[in-house]
Amino acid sequence: MPETLTPDTLTKFAYQTFQQGKQVFGFAHKTLSTRILNTVSPKERNEPNPLTPEMIKRLQTRIDALLEADWQDAENGVYPKSALFENRWDDFFRYYPEMCLDIPGIWERANGQRHQEFSTGIETEGYPAYYVQNFHHQTDGYFSDASANLYDLQVEVLFNGTADPMRRRILAPLKRHLSATMPAVSTSPQPLKVLDIACGTGNSLKLINQSIPKVALYGVDLSPAYLRKAHENLAGVKGIPAQLVQANGESLPFVDEFFEATTSTFLFHELPAEARQNVINEAFRVTKPGGIFVMCDSVQAIDTPEFKPMMENFPAIFHEPYYRHYITDDLIARLETAGFTNITTANYFMSKYWVAFKPAN
Ligand SMILES: C[S@@+](CC[C@H](N)C(=O)[O-])C[C@H]1O[C@@H](n2cnc3c(N)ncnc32)[C@H](O)[C@@H]1O
Repeated sequence: MPETLTPDTLTKFAYQTFQQGKQVFGFAHKTLSTRILNTVSPKERNEPNPLTPEMIKRLQTRIDALLEADWQDAENGVYPKSALFENRWDDFFRYYPEMCLDIPGIWERANGQRHQEFSTGIETEGYPAYYVQNFHHQTDGYFSDASANLYDLQVEVLFNGTADPMRRRILAPLKRHLSATMPAVSTSPQPLKVLDIACGTGNSLKLINQSIPKVALYGVDLSPAYLRKAHENLAGVKGIPAQLVQANGESLPFVDEFFEATTSTFLFHELPAEARQNVINEAFRVTKPGGIFVMCDSVQAIDTPEFKPMMENFPAIFHEPYYRHYITDDLIARLETAGFTNITTANYFMSKYWVAFKPAN
């Protein structure tokens, strides 16, 4: 039976169309850049497992399920529907040409297997050795403003426009928990505090603000350049201005039990095993008893064995030196080792979520 046309079905249709546009754009960009590359520098590319039509079909089904969940959460008031249509068009028009111009340099470094090459003047001293990398073959790794300006666009293209829908999957458990906590502390003049570990350019903080505008937002990241970009991205948010601090997630500059909630999106696959445990331990330390920790990262081998060929492609095509270990790492065991309990997991498209609680006193 055809759906009756209501303002709601029209908005849903507009959202689906908006996302389809992003998918087409992402796909077109990747196809074009590969074609140009093969013309300019024809040689065997390092893609050991080409995607089969069956795999592409499954991926599309998972994208559709992600977008449906995104729409449903907006319908249920987890965040406003207007959030679904947000896009930084000014950045897109300003930096898309730059992103294209950056491609030959990226391929050249990738072909030459040069994974620690930075522009003159970039200071890498004092950072953990595992961090001093051209992750995803990115020019300057996480070390320059130019890299920070291109990062979100590169991720948009890589995930065909689904990065924010994936990040938004952390919001429902976070909001549910904080809403339950809020009445108990409503007499306190202090707002609830949420820390995003490895906040990058501030995307997750912005999404948290759209969903739960009253909380005080804190973000840490190792990259000063990405924090500068986060400041720019968060400049217009309503509510309490976010506090952004340059710090290693392995030793957070906050006192014990400071935050009602901690979050992290797309960090753990870029950390070696020991650092993963250290960050989780720190998340536990700074979270209040009874508080919540919500993590989002890549799917793991155990969840989607059918995507194993694709997971093997990822570190081979992009420079992701810790990804292979990450996809088989038992993060539930790591969360339990830190002291978290009531751990649940979920999967959407290429992402996985862990929701964990610090026991109340
Ligand atoms: C893939 S990006 C994800 C950024 C952001 N959370 C997002 O959703 O787009 C990884 C981020 O982790 C940061 N990072 C990596 N290792 C870190 C560490 N040990 N402590 C703090 N930040 C770290 C990087 O600087 C980068 O901004």
